Amino acid sequence: MHGNHSENNIHELIEKLTTHYQKDGQDVNTHLEGLLNSNYVKYWDYIRLDSLLTLQNPKTPYADEMVFIVYHQITELYFKLVMHELQQLKTAESLTGAIFLKRVERCNWYFGQLISSFDIISVGLDQDQFLKFRVALTPASGFQSVQYRMVEIASTDLINLVHTDSRDKYDDYSTIEELFEELYWKKGATDTKTGEKTLTLRQFETEYTAKLIQLAYEYKSRNVWSLYRRLSLDDQANSAIQEALKQLDQHININWPLMHYKYALGHLIKNKQLYSATGGTNWREYLPPRFQKVIFFPSLYTKEELENWGKNWVEKEVISKIQAAKQV
Ligand code: HEM
Repeated sequence: MHGNHSENNIHELIEKLTTHYQKDGQDVNTHLEGLLNSNYVKYWDYIRLDSLLTLQNPKTPYADEMVFIVYHQITELYFKLVMHELQQLKTAESLTGAIFLKRVERCNWYFGQLISSFDIISVGLDQDQFLKFRVALTPASGFQSVQYRMVEIASTDLINLVHTDSRDKYDDYSTIEELFEELYWKKGATDTKTGEKTLTLRQFETEYTAKLIQLAYEYKSRNVWSLYRRLSLDDQANSAIQEALKQLDQHININWPLMHYKYALGHLIKNKQLYSATGGTNWREYLPPRFQKVIFFPSLYTKEELENWGKNWVEKEVISKIQAAKQV
């Protein structure tokens, strides 16, 4: 009985395979014969484990540099997952509120993981070792993470990424190229007095400007905010969707930056001595979200919420370190 059943299945399957290959003008027999020589899928091949494990190359003999490299890579892989969701939103043919919500919630979950795992810096990265090996990394900096910039560009209209001091100078008629030159991170890595860009920024621009401008064009009318504005009015008013968007905004622009800032303070200050950053920004002014005020979806907040941007509970956690830093 059982044998007959599976035999029927095999006949059915062969018929389906025959039609499948016929559609492409292919001979099913040849393909089936090929299976005789094919290998089973193996975990290590599929995951590309051997290659993955060759991608960590410390530049110094300090053991904890491995932790530093691996955690940056983990972060980049999560950024990749976020971009994967945002890309699917961009190309979705008939976007419903439910799909929109699902994808934004996935991004929130990924960022949530990154925020809670940042403690690895205090657990796994000895400060003394860090202060030694970081010197060998100059002028490289997480500032040069192109995926971080990609996530920003895919999330909101470019105007919202323009430095807060210059935002008023631009309007709907401004070109992508004009706005791009004024992005907050470019200002952060430019000497305000001389107007000179840091080497870290110049190298990043050479490598990525064309790619990022191209991306800005692609997401101009398909970023998270513009897609939200095109949902039905009911979906736009849906509190679950609004909350998910606010969460995304706060995760990317407050919670992650504050966690990152907390550990930058923790590792770049020792015995009241302040160490300069490898990327050369004035990082104590550049990193805190309440100074940058990058807000992806400003229309979702009250005036008060906008004014208090970046001053939530997470900041309390870093406040003692900030005070310690001020005494330097
Ligand atoms: C000991 C740990 C860390 C320290 C001391 C640190 C320090 C800094 C500093 C000072 C900056 C400002 C740019 C500069 O002048 O270099 C920066 C930027 C940045 N770092 Fe880190 N960082 C640490 C860990 C990480 C990790 C694990 C990531 C994960 C990828 C990361 C990603 C970034 C990003 C994306 C920026 C740009 C932020 C922005 O433009 O708003 N950092 N980091």
